[in-house]
Amino acid sequence: MSSVLTVRGGVPLAGRLEVRGAKNLVPKAMVAALLGSEPSYLRNVPEIKDVDVVTNLLKLHGVDVAKEPETGDLRLDPVNAKTASTADIDAHAGDSRIPILFCGPLIHSIGEAFIPDLGGCKIGDRPIDFHLDVLRQFGAVVEKRHAGIHISAPKGLKGAKLSLPYPSVGATEQVLLTAVRAEGNTELRGAATEPEIIDLIAVLQKMGALITVQTDRTIRIEGVSELSGYTHRALPDRIEAASWASAALVTRGDIYVKGAKQTDMMTFLNTYKKVGGAFDISDDGIRFYHPGGKLSPLVLETDVHPGFMTDWQQPLVVALTQAEGVSIVHETVYENRFGFTDALVRMGANIQVHRECLGSGQCRFGQRNFLHSAVISGPAQLSGTEIDIPDLRGGFSHLIAALAATGTSTVTGIDIINRGYERFTQKLEALGADFDITSR
Ligand code: EPZ
Repeated sequence: MSSVLTVRGGVPLAGRLEVRGAKNLVPKAMVAALLGSEPSYLRNVPEIKDVDVVTNLLKLHGVDVAKEPETGDLRLDPVNAKTASTADIDAHAGDSRIPILFCGPLIHSIGEAFIPDLGGCKIGDRPIDFHLDVLRQFGAVVEKRHAGIHISAPKGLKGAKLSLPYPSVGATEQVLLTAVRAEGNTELRGAATEPEIIDLIAVLQKMGALITVQTDRTIRIEGVSELSGYTHRALPDRIEAASWASAALVTRGDIYVKGAKQTDMMTFLNTYKKVGGAFDISDDGIRFYHPGGKLSPLVLETDVHPGFMTDWQQPLVVALTQAEGVSIVHETVYENRFGFTDALVRMGANIQVHRECLGSGQCRFGQRNFLHSAVISGPAQLSGTEIDIPDLRGGFSHLIAALAATGTSTVTGIDIINRGYERFTQKLEALGADFDITSR
């Protein structure tokens, strides 16, 4: 059975909600527990599908994962870790990309890993070449198998001098989770430094890892033979916070996001203000609201941290369809992240996508036939329509477009949104949205 959302647009979203642990940290911290010689405790864990997928994969590998009913906190005990059957792993991996991060911890823990072909949002090719390259440099043997890859390290994993061609978040996590228990020291140049990366380093440091982050994107790790467990409260989800901020702007509403953390959202907050949004920062969250008047167009380029995050652009593009004038968004992190604009155009938005790098400089996708720049002219009246959610962040942007549109929209495929937005229908209800959920 799948759920269908019938949304009656035009109602400003107003009220309070809470964002909890970041979808792009919590599953990685769960995998890190495999590296410990004793149980770990993870707090501020959201009820999202990505956490369920990793919970099942860890249990498959003999890790005892217990959830505290009241708080949702997790106790992860890796002491009985074991190999799992490739068929079971494949069946449980779902459309998550996290399985690739099991490599290092499983090789340290049980000597081998099988990683099924990965899923994840269709926002580009999503290769894993950086991951496999660094694993081989640690001494791992990578074998292509049917429906996945088998990885082992007959001679153990040894520290290496590594450099990433692009500051990949996943590849940086791959190095961190492998190097901490490798023999000897590892140097990683060109590392990602997103807040979720720093939070994962905090988790590993609590386990006894020795990790230094330098000013030039170089991370140094001194391998240790044993790591303890950790107790950690995951950092809040800055992507979800920014998504609701854009929802407030698009629906001319007023949303208090408990848990939103200013220091993780500085670039977003500057952009939000330039578009015409307003925010009040307090100790335990941020109030985002439309102060009235017109929204302003802008020229935006996504980038790695501390630039404007690629996952922030989809919901903000919906706000730009309401700005008075022409905006330009140059997406430099993923090559195919404007597919979601098709549905917005069907709703009445005026958006053209282009192959050129419409930004301050050439990015990796220039002259390679990728439609990775968008020109948005506003304001455009959005009208309700039939929508099938394409991916997580594009899906959320469709939802807020439907909430702002005149008329009714029928939204299918909303289960994808459960991957990264905890209890989002309850949150919509709390914000006064006018919608029904039916099962098909
Ligand atoms: C993480 O994906 C996040 N996902 C993404 O969030 C986020 O958009 C992305 O980082 C960038 O911040 C999770 O953490 C689960 P990358 P990841 O490796 O690690 C290329 C969301 O909606 N690349 O930094 O997969 C890649 O193709 C998701 O929450 C290679 O070429 O991202 C892309 O162009 C979407 N080879 C660029 O690097 C590789 O081996 C950035 O990818 C790996 C990556």
